[in-house]
Amino acid sequence: MSNKVEDKVLDHDFDGIQEYDNPLPRWWLMLFYGCIAFAVVYIPYYHFGPGPLMQEEYAAEMEAANKALTAHAAEEAKQEAAAPKEDWSKFEQDQARVAAGKEVFATRCAACHLADGGGSVGPNLTDNHWKNGRGDMASLVKIIKKGVPGTAMVAWESQLSKDELINSAVFVRSLKGTKPAVAKAPEGDLVED
Ligand code: HEC
Repeated sequence: MSNKVEDKVLDHDFDGIQEYDNPLPRWWLMLFYGCIAFAVVYIPYYHFGPGPLMQEEYAAEMEAANKALTAHAAEEAKQEAAAPKEDWSKFEQDQARVAAGKEVFATRCAACHLADGGGSVGPNLTDNHWKNGRGDMASLVKIIKKGVPGTAMVAWESQLSKDELINSAVFVRSLKGTKPAVAKAPEGDLVED
């Protein structure tokens, strides 16, 4: 320790224990007084003044995010309504598309749905039960394109060409009523054709 400051013993004594009068280091005192100065500004401004507290900031951010989300959903709905309705069902019976779709499905989808659509991570695609949509071409194309947010079913539109998208939907459509080797229990609502 520094010897520059002369050690001065305080003149009290507890059972023979004595202590020196050691001043606190300057940097420590600066921090200490700095904290006090900070608090003098901070507390009046945030707790009694115009500064927003954490909860208020959080509420404001949530409100802004909700607004943005609503606006985004409205925009999407508008776009969807404006887009010309394609009649996907015309592709349904196209055997070339079924075959091409089967290949896409085997490489991209089978990991979760099994090659015959029996289901594992993802639902069984051969039964009449659907968690999303109604199992018709329009529903299938939409689900495969956009995915199911918040689940393992991602949006495939950036990874598949338009034809691959349609073909995989055509293939899923062709699975209806087939008997997979291992069928996962039905999930979602029963949809009568
Ligand atoms: C990483 C796993 C995974 C992959 C890969 C995957 N899916 Fe899915 N899929 C899921 C899950 C999980 C669901 C259920 C989502 C839910 O809970 O609503 C699902 C749902 C679906 C549904 C709707 C089923 C229903 O009952 O609503 C269809 C159709 C579908 N997937 C087709 C495909 C196609 C086609 C591909 C390949 C291009 C694919 N999936 C790739 C996991 C996957």
